[in-house]
Amino acid sequence: MIVIQAKDYDEMSKKAYESMKIVLTEKPDAVLGLATGSTPIGLYKEMIADYKAGAVSYKKMTSINLDEYVGLPVEHPESYRSFMNRNLFDHIDIVKENTHVPDGLAADLKLAADEYTAFAAAHPIDIQILGIGANGHIGFNEPGTPFDSHTHVVELKEGTRRDNARFFDNDIDLVPTHAVTLGMADIMNAKAIILLASGAGKAEAVRDMVLGPVSENCPASILQTHPNVLVVTDEAAGYYLN
Ligand code: F6R
Repeated sequence: MIVIQAKDYDEMSKKAYESMKIVLTEKPDAVLGLATGSTPIGLYKEMIADYKAGAVSYKKMTSINLDEYVGLPVEHPESYRSFMNRNLFDHIDIVKENTHVPDGLAADLKLAADEYTAFAAAHPIDIQILGIGANGHIGFNEPGTPFDSHTHVVELKEGTRRDNARFFDNDIDLVPTHAVTLGMADIMNAKAIILLASGAGKAEAVRDMVLGPVSENCPASILQTHPNVLVVTDEAAGYYLN
């Protein structure tokens, strides 16, 4: 695990993109593992700007997103499909049919989750982008999730729903109670991983991920055992690493 501490959010996003760009330019048909949330938005802006400058094309690439809320219509502005379209896919030349987000509306969620796992296994992720929850979650794999898990439906912890209420008029009751997420084993299958962390609220999770024991109590700690992980924090999120 390599850890870079940037001074602020912008520098974090730029440093993450520098590293990601190596994969994007070396592999025109790369499979991208993508995350939603506040953290990767700056990285997505870097991707869009560089695409507009003509440096990278996403025409032959495939993307696989980590997670989606259960029961939220796709057109809802806070569905992760809407988020990805708005913050990235609508601004680059990736073919929409090649962008994949778990189906949180499937009649049979278990079957859809198993199909998503099979798709990810057949399209190994070249570069996985991750954020981290204040409780150490990656994707929506909350503390206690087995390290050998695959795509599954999760009941979101109250703290996670509270954190995400800012996207739902600050009303926790509007935040879905369940989500579907790639599992820990699926994430660990990525060839390379870049995890971004920004803000003081992530400092303890970053400390436990980097310095703590590898434990299901801090899902992100499993990344210590992955052969190719870059962690990029801003100053506040990296506070305990100094
Ligand atoms: C989002 C995801 C989550 C977030 C995490 C941090 O697809 O998988 O693990 O990365 O909750 O969220 P933000 O970036 O909003 O602080």
